[in-house]
Amino acid sequence: MARICCGPLHTFALLTSVFLILVHKDKNVSFAFSPSAEWQHSTNISYRSVQFRENLSSNVTVSADPRTHTRYVRDQCGIAVESRINCGCDRSLSRADCEARGCCYVPLPQSGLGGPPWCFYPVRYPGYKMGPLLPTEKGQRATLARSAPSYLPRDIPTLQLDLMPETLGRLHLTLKDPASPRYEVPFVTSQSRGHKDIQNPLYDVDFQPDPFGFIVRRKSNGRVLLNTTIGPLLFADQYVQLSTSMASSVISGLGEHYTPITLDLNWTSVSLWNRDMASANLYGSHPFFLVQEGDGQAHGVFLLNSNAMEVFLQPAPALTWVTVGGILDFYIFLGPSPQSVVQQYHEVIGYPMMPPYWSLGFHLCRWGYTSTNITRTVVQLMRQAKIPLDVQWNDLDYADQRRVFTFDLQRFGDLPRMVEEFHQLGMKYVLILDPGISSASPPGSYKPFDDGLKRGVFIKNSTGQILIGKVWPGPTAFPDFTNPTTQDWWTDCIRVFHSKVPVDGLWIDMNEPSNFVQGSVDGCPDSDLEKPPYTPGVIGGQLNAGTLCVSAQQYLSNHYNLHNLYGLTEAIATHRALLKVKSTRPFVLSRSSFPGLGRFSAHWTGDVRSDWEQLRFSIPGVLLFGLYGVPLVGADVCGFGGDTTEELCVRWTQLGAFYPFMRNHNDKPNAPQEPFVFSQQAQDAMRTAITLRYSLLPFLYTLFHHTHSSGSTVARPLFLEFPTDPDCQTIDRQFLWGSSLLISPVLEEGALEVTAYLPPGTWYSLFLMFTNGNLQISTKCYSASYYSKGQYILFPAPLDTINVHVREGSIIPQQVPALTTTASRRNPFTLIVALSVGNWAKGELFWDDGESLDTFEHGNYSYVLFFAEEVQNRENFVKLNGSLDGLVLGEVRVFGVRAPPTSVWANGQKVHDFSYSQDTKVCNKRFILIFKMC
Ligand SMILES: *[C@@H]1O[C@H](CO)[C@@H](O)[C@H](O)[C@H]1NC(C)=O
Ligand SMILES: *[C@@H]1O[C@H](CO)[C@@H](O)[C@H](O)[C@H]1NC(C)=O
Ligand SMILES: *[C@@H]1O[C@H](CO)[C@@H](O)[C@H](O)[C@H]1NC(C)=O
Ligand SMILES: *[C@@H]1O[C@H](CO)[C@@H](O)[C@H](O)[C@H]1NC(C)=O
Ligand SMILES: *[C@@H]1O[C@H](CO)[C@@H](O)[C@H](O)[C@H]1NC(C)=O
Ligand SMILES: *[C@@H]1O[C@H](CO)[C@@H](O)[C@H](O)[C@H]1NC(C)=O
Repeated sequence: MARICCGPLHTFALLTSVFLILVHKDKNVSFAFSPSAEWQHSTNISYRSVQFRENLSSNVTVSADPRTHTRYVRDQCGIAVESRINCGCDRSLSRADCEARGCCYVPLPQSGLGGPPWCFYPVRYPGYKMGPLLPTEKGQRATLARSAPSYLPRDIPTLQLDLMPETLGRLHLTLKDPASPRYEVPFVTSQSRGHKDIQNPLYDVDFQPDPFGFIVRRKSNGRVLLNTTIGPLLFADQYVQLSTSMASSVISGLGEHYTPITLDLNWTSVSLWNRDMASANLYGSHPFFLVQEGDGQAHGVFLLNSNAMEVFLQPAPALTWVTVGGILDFYIFLGPSPQSVVQQYHEVIGYPMMPPYWSLGFHLCRWGYTSTNITRTVVQLMRQAKIPLDVQWNDLDYADQRRVFTFDLQRFGDLPRMVEEFHQLGMKYVLILDPGISSASPPGSYKPFDDGLKRGVFIKNSTGQILIGKVWPGPTAFPDFTNPTTQDWWTDCIRVFHSKVPVDGLWIDMNEPSNFVQGSVDGCPDSDLEKPPYTPGVIGGQLNAGTLCVSAQQYLSNHYNLHNLYGLTEAIATHRALLKVKSTRPFVLSRSSFPGLGRFSAHWTGDVRSDWEQLRFSIPGVLLFGLYGVPLVGADVCGFGGDTTEELCVRWTQLGAFYPFMRNHNDKPNAPQEPFVFSQQAQDAMRTAITLRYSLLPFLYTLFHHTHSSGSTVARPLFLEFPTDPDCQTIDRQFLWGSSLLISPVLEEGALEVTAYLPPGTWYSLFLMFTNGNLQISTKCYSASYYSKGQYILFPAPLDTINVHVREGSIIPQQVPALTTTASRRNPFTLIVALSVGNWAKGELFWDDGESLDTFEHGNYSYVLFFAEEVQNRENFVKLNGSLDGLVLGEVRVFGVRAPPTSVWANGQKVHDFSYSQDTKVCNKRFILIFKMC
């Protein structure tokens, strides 16, 4: 392979009119690169088992003899065991209690926890009776009324049902109290509320008037997607319950939990209540799930409710939502493809933000970089090791007495200068910000608190004084981000701090919010809010465990209602503050989350341990957040808690190179895990992985553009891309970037091979081929193409290799990597053209300056479409000079050329220097053609 220089072809401006031809005896293959005219320019599985406490109580008969119930069983209790809907979701029931509720009590021989309930609702258990459906402006409305009270305290006797067909694929249905307004979730749905007249939607809705229930069908095939007549609707002040059958058992969602990509329906439950715990109910709440219907179609259901919730799953398949407040506000998405379900959901919660380009680079952090000198040294060692690094972070070490908006003058006295130095290197700097504001500093000595006090920004306890909890700095008050005044105060705090320390982004941690004392330093009052009649299965057994008293008062409502929104509201405030202070695209990383977070923030999966199981579970964790509309997500590379091993850290870096957000972060007491602390061999493997990521950033950035502009996913489970392939339904050890890169990491200790599923078609191994300046990259060439009928294939995966395959028919834009994105963005581009069997391929590139606001919205970007196809009609391609001057196309690599070309032409000129290599490992011999443009 030699080098040629081809003059004006160097620039992308001309690249847009480049037309390449590979000349063969019988046919020519052409490549055109054209901007579209109109776009131009400008161990503990966290879901707990459902506990049926009957058999724990010695006073309850556990006789398996259901004789006394025989008649009843036949008439109304003849329900298949897997379809029993628990009549005691709220508490354990003895036979007498059960029968007092009018429920069926039929013990089962099995003992222990979990399993089907003994006490369950009979068929047509009384509930609400529905009146006539009347037309409204948005759809139809009916009144529901109870004739007799339920067994719950404070029933809502009358409900209003609103049925609102919003788009062809989206149905909106609410149930609320018409007599007195109840809490409804703010902030989340800012997007289009749909159209008025929907002709021929994808769904049909039927009602059972008494007892009330609804059935949603897919009109095209009559499939029942939801059937809520399987159990009663219960609606009391602090207890709302609804059950539905499911169209299949393949369900994804209801996070944040430590689960595989699909949920276990074997009598399990998941609780949604944000908590600073690495198990059980985790940091975020996402009451959305997607159901794969089995034939490639899918639907989704979003229950917009932010109260503490528990969702019970059972093998019928069916589920039961129980929430302790708010209203029932359902959005049902009919797809019909899984991908369109995700898009329809994102339309409601808002498309994700466009991240700054630099945030896609490598980030390095540790709790324990205890001075600017140590932090600087880390950056120096990374540069000496020639490992790309865009963003250096500090954890709370920087702060004076752990108080945010200060920095320690002894250890971090020259923090402003350090940040400037990083900027000089083309790097960025991010530090942590906890919401807890120290309340114990002497008056006049800590402005954020004094000022906040004056402006009334803090959450108050139920008697109206500021609620004081305890977090890292000791006693703290908690800003109420639902209050507009707090937004202004927060912006001022960030502005003042930024004027000293010009941070590039903010990391908002501990924002569940986390509290080291239960509720407050004064405890919590004894009330129905703190001790609701029913508490979902949360760690600590009480809603105020590890957080604030839920009776605490916020501007918009009480903490009982708003708790799950704390992280979201802090992210909104932080995003807006950065926007005002910096006027560039904000970067915020939030631990706590709720639907809509992705419009403002990235997310990481919290305090994961450095072990192989957590490495493996990080994949479904990341993929699910894509479904939740938070595409910029990753787990702490090499793990946060505990000591990593070299092998684990290498494998984690390889996988992490394909997390949309890649940060290595470590806890204080652990062995160090920066790439440079390991052996040369390990460093080489890590450098290769991170450099491969950097080479692919233009492609990754383009995926983010699509997600931002039309709601989709970046890191994508296989089932979204191959919905009709049953093998893909549950795969979560592999994943895709967009539709064309398949990542198959090693997830087991000691493994040097990986068994990976290749969906039907031809796939080409992607390997790193860059040698750029002082970046010495070890390259091993597993250049093979594989034709798969939809099968598992064993691939070599020595320690220096992560298997990545390019899907036939795709063109992947790459850029020669560098130590920062500031530098790599100036390097030549490369195209990987993976020809399909039919000899075509396509791809695209979204390109802008990487940090200006709303470039897409304002048209300040370029969009290049790449096509490769057999020459038919060259004139079809738009040829335009764009605004991409200065960008260079350095090299094109074509995978899958069937025979060596006799010559290569570029824009009418013969290209003299090209090479091809025959891929000997493949059965259907194909060639890789590489030619350098300069
Ligand atoms: C292939 O391209 C060459 C160079 O442009 C041209 O002379 C030749 O006619 C083409 N062949 C076919 C089959 O299109
Ligand atoms: C059993 O019943 C007795 C008498 O009703 C009661 O005192 C006791 O607390 C009950 N025990 C349990 C475990 O419920
Ligand atoms: C809905 O569920 C009820 C109770 O299981 C069942 O009898 C009914 O046939 C179901 N309706 C449809 C349309 O599937
Ligand atoms: C469901 O869970 C029970 C109890 O844990 C277990 O015995 C049973 O095998 C499980 N069933 C399936 C289908 O996994
Ligand atoms: C940091 O390093 C500089 C230069 O080596 C040294 O003068 C200074 O004392 C160090 N500061 C601390 C806090 O260690
Ligand atoms: C509210 O806070 C004040 C001041 O800390 C305290 O005296 C009071 O007991 C608290 N009220 C409740 C209900 O905890």
